[in-house]
Amino acid sequence: MTDVLDSPTVPAAADPRTAWWRQAVVYQVYPRSFADSNGDGTGDLAGLTARVPHLARLGVDAVWMSPFYPSELADGGYDVADHRDVDPRIGTLEQFDELVAALHGAGIRLVVDIVPNHSSDRHPWFRQALAAAPGSPERERYVFRRGRGEHGELPPTDWTATFGGPAWEHVGGGEWYLHLFAPEQPDWNWANPQVREDHLLTLAFWADRGVDGFRVDVAHALTKDLSDPLPSAAELAAGDLPDGAHRFFDRDEVHEVYREWRALFDSYDPPRTAVAEAWVPAHRRARYASPEGLGQAFNFDLLGSPFEARSFRTTVEENLRLAAAAGSSSTWVLSNHDVVRHASRYALPEGADAEAWLLSGGTEPAPDTARGLRRARAATAFLLALPGSTYLYQGEELGLPEVADLPAAALQDPTWLRSGGTRKGRDGCRVPLPWSAQGPSFGFGAGPAHLPQPSWYGPLAVEAQEDDPASTLAFYRRALAERRRLQGPEELTWLEGLPEGVAAFRRPGGWTCLTNFGTGPVALPAGRVVLSSGPIGETLVPGETTVWLEDEPRGGRLDQEGPTR
Ligand code: GLC
Repeated sequence: MTDVLDSPTVPAAADPRTAWWRQAVVYQVYPRSFADSNGDGTGDLAGLTARVPHLARLGVDAVWMSPFYPSELADGGYDVADHRDVDPRIGTLEQFDELVAALHGAGIRLVVDIVPNHSSDRHPWFRQALAAAPGSPERERYVFRRGRGEHGELPPTDWTATFGGPAWEHVGGGEWYLHLFAPEQPDWNWANPQVREDHLLTLAFWADRGVDGFRVDVAHALTKDLSDPLPSAAELAAGDLPDGAHRFFDRDEVHEVYREWRALFDSYDPPRTAVAEAWVPAHRRARYASPEGLGQAFNFDLLGSPFEARSFRTTVEENLRLAAAAGSSSTWVLSNHDVVRHASRYALPEGADAEAWLLSGGTEPAPDTARGLRRARAATAFLLALPGSTYLYQGEELGLPEVADLPAAALQDPTWLRSGGTRKGRDGCRVPLPWSAQGPSFGFGAGPAHLPQPSWYGPLAVEAQEDDPASTLAFYRRALAERRRLQGPEELTWLEGLPEGVAAFRRPGGWTCLTNFGTGPVALPAGRVVLSSGPIGETLVPGETTVWLEDEPRGGRLDQEGPTR
């Protein structure tokens, strides 16, 4: 750990009440689409290192880097062929060390993605499993089973994989393996001690290299009950299963795995952090977020919330309560590499299905782009004022909308092909970032980017927004700087009696966040405006706008306007 991180401006990570991750702004980098240093069209570690000054100026506390490991990219790098190396096409271990040093030197922590539910089918252990006989120790590390039918010619069950198509792949001789995601992502057998041991080695490998934390992919999968008889897809989906009784999601014994991981994390000084990507009901999240487990869990509830005051408030109240009960802090997310960017979601009429919109090439229904950005900025400012950690996704600081009209031939996400062209997938939020207004790939690299960038990218580039105080980039920088300055204990008090469509809360230290989710203006409360997500009037907050107000110091406007004493 460098001096910068140990400096008094950064709370000591060892104190669980003030640990850095509890109220951090974590910026997600999808490395192959961030910055390309060698002009091959794919972002790389050196490109990211060169752009650390951008992240420092933005003011983030940590970077979460999506997988950078050797991968055939059957699922954007979430098919990992070697968990303890860097994909040679995007860097080397030495360049990884340089990245850690550059980030730490700028006071930014690094969280890496760990993908423990499955490996790539190129992983040496899977190659060995294929070469070995049914029932061999090599096959025991994965989930192999005999198929149904006289010769095992039918899959063991009718389960469907997440990206579409059957969840079992035939390897010959009536033997099949399970893949909850793409066929190139065989599921590990977590009942196998070698699998457990190997993951501990992986976590220690990166923790020893200075990684500060881990984002745990599909953390609610891993352990499975595959005893006979296996249920049908319809039985699994019936929805009336008691908690923990699903055959492969959110099983109670997965927490034994995380207890082991926690012991390893806590053997480091400072302890390594972890955040679970667990798509589980809110009341089951505490198990992942507890201090004996991973310590924190994503809550994706605001992703599904309409842009509406009551819905935002209810979601926040519930999540603050659940996180506190779990001994953790809450997390807030509006965009990531798996969902349509929030500037585009908010550009659609209420209730519109973002996936169907993508399938129409971004035309049906017609998006209101200006409104989408206005609401996106208002929602982001609301999130950044909350207690807890906010996870930002690369490019949202530029107000990037989804690239919804990627041609079918350019699509990389397995969702597109595996769903038979009925779901477009996630490439539209993974298009490489624009850094400059012109040039091949808008400053991303020296040649065309691996996913085609749209012609309208230029004005959204970092360079084009840099000096414009009204730009989304300037707004994010201001928001993060004010957040850092105003940051206090994890408490909030809602203001009551506000006009319909307005949500507002006060934070310790004397500041208020007010969001006008409606379309008509509302009165601007007293106080000094330190941030607004869009233009505001002297006395009014326009619709779809958030303001942060700091109490006037004694003798200021508040005192003058208040009752005489
Ligand atoms: C997670 C990742 C997603 C990936 C999947 C399988 O949901 O966020 O991108 O496809 O896991 O690893």
